[in-house]
Amino acid sequence: MDFFSYRDGQLYCEDVPVDRIAKEFGTPVYIYSQATLKHHYDRIKAAYAEFDPMICYSVKSCGNLNILKKLHEWGSGFDVVSGGELFRVLQAGGDPGKVVYAGVGKTDVEINAALDAGIAYFNIESEEELANLARLARDKGKRAQCALRINPDVDPKTHRHTATGKRESKFGVDLDRAMTVFETFGKESSLSLSAVHLHLGSPIYSAEPYVEALEKTLPFIDALRAKGFAVDTLDLGGGLGADYQTGQTPPTLEYADKIIPMLRGQNLKLILEPGRSIAGNGGLLLTRVIYTKAGGDKRFLIVDAAMNDLIRPAFYGAFHFIWPVQVGDAFVPERREECPPMDGLEKVDVVGPICESGDFLAKERMLPPAQRGDLLGVFTAGAYAFTMSSQYNARPRAAEVLVDGGQCHLIRRRETYDDLVAAERV
Ligand code: LLP
Repeated sequence: MDFFSYRDGQLYCEDVPVDRIAKEFGTPVYIYSQATLKHHYDRIKAAYAEFDPMICYSVKSCGNLNILKKLHEWGSGFDVVSGGELFRVLQAGGDPGKVVYAGVGKTDVEINAALDAGIAYFNIESEEELANLARLARDKGKRAQCALRINPDVDPKTHRHTATGKRESKFGVDLDRAMTVFETFGKESSLSLSAVHLHLGSPIYSAEPYVEALEKTLPFIDALRAKGFAVDTLDLGGGLGADYQTGQTPPTLEYADKIIPMLRGQNLKLILEPGRSIAGNGGLLLTRVIYTKAGGDKRFLIVDAAMNDLIRPAFYGAFHFIWPVQVGDAFVPERREECPPMDGLEKVDVVGPICESGDFLAKERMLPPAQRGDLLGVFTAGAYAFTMSSQYNARPRAAEVLVDGGQCHLIRRRETYDDLVAAERV
């Protein structure tokens, strides 16, 4: 669900025609819909309301300060994975008391900054990390609140690069070692090891992996309690899907309906770390066709966005719905899908200007005929789009614009050529 829709053959973001944004800010440009972000945040909060969960929005999905500010205003905390992300949260005025910090390679500098900020939980990924945190907290005379991230060995049925809760992945501590971690560190005076963390991977398109992980983790929490460890919090991580195609993701309530009954009566505070499920459908990448050309048996649309702006198709083979911004009646899409049932579509590769054959946004995609100068919308580009962008091929990063009703605000200016070299003038 989102607020990008066609009116009289024109693509709008909320009440703003997106071609107006192209005129004002140029292309490529990321456009975010505030109402969509809010809708998804509210929906998750409401689905788990009976636990009054601490929602920690995952900054890595879309970390623009202005978007973090909004989430903070709506009551969100934050999931971070680096000192840089914590810095972003603090810059945005976020509450450090609602920050959880995961990541397998937290450095001393990063840990010290998080201790100084007073974050809610260090989500611990290894025994060595926990020993190091105990030492650093002791040096500061502090007590660090921690959750042990469990690797429950569950298949989230997603891309291998983004599956994190399987035995062979680098994340968390195997369930069969987790008890020993509590026994070793559970009574350490500079630590309060009182929570368990899970993050299985992403995107996850059904509740089953969560259920499977809980079936393994809840008995483990019982066993911890039986041994006298006061575990009072469960962080379920993120991973809920986004609609790259219409209807691809089950409604939030459908996940919650399976998860909530398992948590009832467990006497656990709940933390959730949604990223994509809030930001994914909240953003669109707007791009312009620079040239069209034939090559072999193919027809190419060469656009001004590239793999440096959206790496997901090249990196994960991910599908992003792409459609012209201005269309005749026959081509108004009712659903976002790979092969819309319409006559007159053309098969094209949508590619960028970068010097790599891997630089594509879509391959063999059926689209309405498009020409040089046309605008195309690349949908569901709110999460892991800008945050994974680079300056490869010395391409300045694109601008970001936040739409709120009929208004649009530039929330990140387009980088300049000078930005490309500024840090090298040393
Ligand atoms: N919590 C932790 C500990 C995570 O590692 C992640 C994502 C999240 C929460 C948020 O997951 P979400 O709700 O957004 O699915 N670049 C990939 C996704 C990598 C996700 C990494 N961790 C992509 O473009 O699909």
